Order: sequence, then C-alpha cells, then structure tokens
Amino acid sequence: MLRTLVLLSTVAILSTWAVKCKYEGQDLENNQIIVVQNAFRIKCLTEDNGSWKTEIVGCVAPDGTEIDAGQKKEHGDKIHECVKTEGGQVSLKESKGRMAACPGGQKNGEEWQEKSFKFRCGDGGVVKFIACVGQDGSVIRAGETGKIGGFDVKCEQHANGTITMQAAHEPKSYECKAKDGSSKKNGEEYVEGNFVRKCGDYGQGKIVGCHAENLGTTIPINQNVTSGDVIFSCTKDGSNYSFKTYSLKAN
Ligand SMILES: *[C@@H]1O[C@H](CO)[C@@H](O)[C@H](O)[C@H]1NC(C)=O
Ligand SMILES: *[C@@H]1O[C@H](CO)[C@@H](O)[C@H](O)[C@H]1NC(C)=O
Ligand SMILES: *[C@@H]1O[C@H](CO)[C@@H](O)[C@H](O)[C@H]1NC(C)=O
Ligand SMILES: *[C@@H]1O[C@H](CO)[C@@H](O)[C@H](O)[C@H]1NC(C)=O
Repeated sequence: MLRTLVLLSTVAILSTWAVKCKYEGQDLENNQIIVVQNAFRIKCLTEDNGSWKTEIVGCVAPDGTEIDAGQKKEHGDKIHECVKTEGGQVSLKESKGRMAACPGGQKNGEEWQEKSFKFRCGDGGVVKFIACVGQDGSVIRAGETGKIGGFDVKCEQHANGTITMQAAHEPKSYECKAKDGSSKKNGEEYVEGNFVRKCGDYGQGKIVGCHAENLGTTIPINQNVTSGDVIFSCTKDGSNYSFKTYSLKAN
C-alpha cells in the first residue's frame, strides 16, 4: 500500500497581524498541525513579514500512530514508513512486519506440511519451502538429493517457483538386481526361478512370463504352452503369479 501527497504552496500575504496559513479553505495558526487524507500531518509556518507556508511534517498510520517524515514504525505485524523525497513528495508506505502471518494463516516460524512438501512461515509473512518428505517419512532438504526407499531423490524449487521431488536420475538409468546378484539393464529380460522378468524403470523387474526348463520360449502370462504331453501354464491372479505344469498322459 502506498499513499502519496505532494504539496507545497508558499504564498505571501501582506497583512502583518495574525498571519495564518490557508489549507483547502481552512485557516491555520502558526505551528498548528492538521491531519489530511487521514494519512499526512501538515504544519503551518508563518513569518512576521506576512508570508506563510504549509509543510508536510509526517504521516499518520491507519491505527493513528504518528510517524515523522523519514521514519518508520513497526506495529503489530505491519511496518509503516513515512518517506520524503527531495522534491517534497511524502508517501506513507505500508509493508508486512517481520512477525506478519503467512497467507495461509500460519504464524512466523511455524512449520507445516502440504502433501510431500514442508514449509515454514518466514519473516514478513513469506512462505519458505524447506524440505520434501517421502512416504516413509524421510526428509530431504530443499535443494538436496537424498535416499527414499533406496532411490536417489532430488528435492528442488525451480526458478519458476515449481517445487518437485523426483528421481535424481533418468528412470531408465537404473539397473535391476536379479536374485542371483547380477545386474540387468533397463529393457533386459532375465530368468528368476520359474519366472521371466523384464527390467523396467527405476530398476523394477516386472514379471512378463514364465520359464520352464527345456522349453525354448517364454510362456506368456495367462496362456498355456503345450510341449509334447505337457501343458505349461502361466497365470496372473491379482498381484500373484503362478506357474503350473499339467501332464496330458492318460493315467
Ligand atoms: C519573509 O521572511 C522570510 C524569512 O525571513 C523570507 O524567506 C521571505 O522571502 C520574506 N517574505 C517577504 C514577502 O518578504
Ligand atoms: C517450471 O520449471 C521446471 C524446471 O525447469 C519445469 O519442469 C516445469 O515444467 C516448469 N513449470 C511451469 C509451470 O512452468
Ligand atoms: C491351461 O490349461 C489348464 C489345464 O488344462 C486349464 O485349466 C486352463 O484353463 C488353461 N488356461 C488357458 C488360458 O487356456
Ligand atoms: C495372493 O497370495 C497371497 C499369499 O499367498 C494371498 O493371501 C492372496 O489372497 C492372493 N491373492 C489373490 C488375488 O489370489
């Protein structure tokens, strides 16, 4: 908020007795101060030779506090400053005080979490982004990279204000760890027991079929492959996978 008043009339009146200032139709005594526009204090100065002038000597904050030109006062969660320029222009500037609350109503110094992000109400009611929080509760400070569930995760605030918590590396750059201890590249298929897995993003090996000894091909999910007198069956039920073999031989 900024209110400005420019003033200054200096008028010579040639009446030697009881010189008064005139301000918007009002007569003012020497040294009398009036408040105009609810924000500025104007003082009357007269000379014995009959000249007078009115001068802005200060401001008045909305709560009635008087502030001299060039001074500022902090009251409650607001700062009011009475600014005077060399040209004689005086402005009453209002800004948030150090202890001002944040737009969401949080108090100065208060911390809170929204989704996976932590904030603090900083000085002047400014919201500061301070950290990311993983689902397991682990905290990564803003601008840093940490581990969540074994993955490198970067917590950052971009120049456009957007905040993100995302994998520090390309999703496809992660290798999968097979049960035998070997590492598999993204897209690579490998056998683990009776299942065939494909290394997916973030190093997640996904079951794509079943594997049977001596059968040259992968048995696709929810399909049967018959070889000789044996049916190989690979099924997915919800999140469970199963591999079965049936014999076609009549008993
Ligand atoms: C009156 O006196 C003041 C201060 O001494 C001076 O600045 C001003 O010019 C004088 N005015 C007249 C009309 O003589
Ligand atoms: C903000 O910047 C980030 C990083 O440069 C970018 O990924 C994102 O799309 C941008 N968001 C908007 C709304 O511009
Ligand atoms: C696979 O074969 C088994 C045993 O004959 C049968 O119960 C099942 O329905 C078959 N599944 C499919 C997908 O054909
Ligand atoms: C999957 O397997 C688990 C453990 O054996 C079992 O409790 C669950 O009911 C199974 N789910 C389905 C959809 O069959």
